[in-house]
Amino acid sequence: MNVCEYKPGLEGIPAAQSSISYVDGKQGILEYRGIRIEELAVKSTFLETAYLLIWGELPNKEELETFENEIRYHRRIKYRIRDMMKCFPETGHPMDALQASAAALGLFYSKRALDNPAYIREAAVRLLAKIPTMVAAFQLMRKGNDAVKPNDELDYAANFLYMLNEREPDPLAARIFDICLTLHAEHTINASTFSAMVTASTLTDPYAVVASAVGTLAGPLHGGANEEVITMLEEIGSVENVRPYLDRCFEEKSKIMGFGHRVYKVKDPRATILQELAEQLFEKFGRDQYYDIAIEMERVVEERLGEKGIYANVDFYSGLVYRKLGIPTDLFTPVFAIARVAGWLAHWKEQLGENRIFRPTQIYRGRRDASYTPIKERM
Ligand code: CMC
Repeated sequence: MNVCEYKPGLEGIPAAQSSISYVDGKQGILEYRGIRIEELAVKSTFLETAYLLIWGELPNKEELETFENEIRYHRRIKYRIRDMMKCFPETGHPMDALQASAAALGLFYSKRALDNPAYIREAAVRLLAKIPTMVAAFQLMRKGNDAVKPNDELDYAANFLYMLNEREPDPLAARIFDICLTLHAEHTINASTFSAMVTASTLTDPYAVVASAVGTLAGPLHGGANEEVITMLEEIGSVENVRPYLDRCFEEKSKIMGFGHRVYKVKDPRATILQELAEQLFEKFGRDQYYDIAIEMERVVEERLGEKGIYANVDFYSGLVYRKLGIPTDLFTPVFAIARVAGWLAHWKEQLGENRIFRPTQIYRGRRDASYTPIKERM
């Protein structure tokens, strides 16, 4: 066996063979099952994209209708899940609430038949269908209100905004939200997907797989960055403050949220699309002062860090879009999770197809053959 060089963060080490998505970080290319993200964003819907990711091919008309109807049917959550969520502290972060609720689905749907395609499909449908309902339910219940039931007349994206804001969304807002979901649906083996794959490789249930991925997505270096971007834009407060704020960051060598990527060394293609979507929203619903701050930030960061390959990533503009759609800041990462469930499920299914439990090795740096010192002799 070759002894490999240790790479912190497993940078550049292949952890699997996969046919789900492809990223070219130098050219800024992202493809799902070979189709460019720019094309999917314009021509597809999130559910069609989820089907493509999980089952490998675009569905025909009938397959798509069946899939959409299955999702619609499974959107409701059991009243006992709702009651359990009501007991969550309202001060808790919605990502923690989502992680707990996703894991709890395993209590209610405990059958496990990982070699049965019908089981795989049912579990995938349940997770895709119920996670938006759980996110919206927690949002309303933490404010002391009842959760809103899903509306069968509305499609996936519109229904989520309806459950969240208690009114039917504007069609442009719903379409833009659907595109956001497509953009966030999959991104090769990032931290949360790797977490899903490791959990999947033990042959546990898919609810545990998704719950572990949700926990991983929550961190500020991963999905949590979109929330931090808005906090940062609010703290900066005006275009004039951008340069002094960034100068402090450069001096302290602190990370600027929404910039940099392990793989992309140019602007993230999803950030480019999200920026266009933000502009469409501002045109229809009014410009947001934070957008001007963001544009200036991007200009200064590019000027200072562009040569190091640090550019805006997906999280930089997504928060501005979500804010305009009426989504509260601490729901940005749960919304990311709603979309990424599609990718996690695709990797779960792929992992099961050729499974071997993940068990990497380590380079041991600790003591050997140490003796036990009785407590009274310890300093
Ligand atoms: N601001 C300032 N400097 C940065 C940034 C940044 N956002 N990102 C990387 N750098 C610098 C870093 O200081 C280091 O410089 P040096 O070589 O002089 O020490 C160099 O670039 C390499 O950085 P790294 O942290 O080793 O890179 P990584 O591949 O381990 O980290 C990252 C990638 C995304 C965690 C990192 O860029 C980062 O922390 N960005 C801010 C958080 C963020 O926006 N996260 C969302 C990522 S995209 C969506 C997702 O994954 O969920």
